[in-house]
Amino acid sequence: MKKVLVTGGAGFIGTNLIKKLLADGNEVYSVDNFTIGTPEHAALFKDNNNYHFIELNIDNTEEFLMKFKDVNFDMVYHLAANSDIQKGGQDPRVDYRDTFSTTRSVLELMRQNDIKKLFFASTSAVYGDMSGELITENIGNLKPISYYGGAKFASEGYISAYTFMNDLSVVVFRFPNVIGPCLTHGVIHDFVKKLKSDPNKLEILGDGHQTKPYIYVDDLVDVIVKMTENIPKGMGIYNIGVDSATSVTKIADIVCDVLGYKGVTYKYTGGNVGWKGDVPKFQYNLDKIHKTGWRAKYSSDEAVRKTCEWVKEQVL
Ligand SMILES: NC(=O)c1ccc[n+]([C@@H]2O[C@H](COP(=O)([O-])OP(=O)(O)OC[C@H]3O[C@@H](n4cnc5c(N)ncnc54)[C@H](O)[C@@H]3O)[C@@H](O)[C@H]2O)c1
Repeated sequence: MKKVLVTGGAGFIGTNLIKKLLADGNEVYSVDNFTIGTPEHAALFKDNNNYHFIELNIDNTEEFLMKFKDVNFDMVYHLAANSDIQKGGQDPRVDYRDTFSTTRSVLELMRQNDIKKLFFASTSAVYGDMSGELITENIGNLKPISYYGGAKFASEGYISAYTFMNDLSVVVFRFPNVIGPCLTHGVIHDFVKKLKSDPNKLEILGDGHQTKPYIYVDDLVDVIVKMTENIPKGMGIYNIGVDSATSVTKIADIVCDVLGYKGVTYKYTGGNVGWKGDVPKFQYNLDKIHKTGWRAKYSSDEAVRKTCEWVKEQVL
């Protein structure tokens, strides 16, 4: 049994990860300040004696360090961040605080408490707009185009320095879009909300051709757990994803199909991006993670369909 800390544990991916970590018999401490995560998610595991939830703003480093002054962890899964890229685009302080400063707090906790193992949830947004080029992890000259991508990239830089200075063992995954049960926002929720208010018409941001890989959260949790069982010294960075991708128009088709909306007229707002800072197309080279023997079970379209089925259960 390992004693682990999950930051952002009441969020979408955190909730799915904690479910698996508890099922595997670990003792899990979870922190979240409910900026995006929900008390309902935090309460899901309250009957499990190995689960401890603490409502905390971890951007406040001093408070975070005080809270866990005498607690030692075998491993930290750092997922807390502002996951709403659009919202972050309206105010750069949001990603500085929730995406970057939270990472600094985690690294300080690890340094001061002599915690040696870290998993960090990074993102394809660190690469910026690569115009559809096949992206490998060792590509250089990265130019993130959103404050969110910038704050994750800065976090990776800080993690690299702390790794060297403190002999850490770190796994960094650059996730693509992740979807599945407990999802709280994003394109699928937007479409469902719009269709509920007008079942005949659907506004789609951009030209609908934005095409990205979507991974199902069970696949992601599976590879997080696998790759954090025995982490070698140093910092390993991996692209994570699926070989396929789904366009925004295809997502609209699947949402309408699964939720039973017929004859819907799509109205495109135009332009090739959904919003400023959005990367309309990207494609990963996944050789590095595939060489470990892991492969996602679900394709991008299947992930979208399964998530729509979950959303349907929630709205009915
Ligand atoms: N979902 C995706 O498609 C995706 C893609 C790439 C990377 N990621 C990264 O994976 C991680 C998890 O993503 P998610 O989709 O579950 O997002 P999420 O928003 O559901 O989870 C992040 C959690 O962090 C919490 N949080 C934010 N600031 C905090 C603070 N100052 N103190 C304490 N808690 C704080 C939020 O309340 C939220 O519950 C994030 O780091 C995100 O950037 C997600």
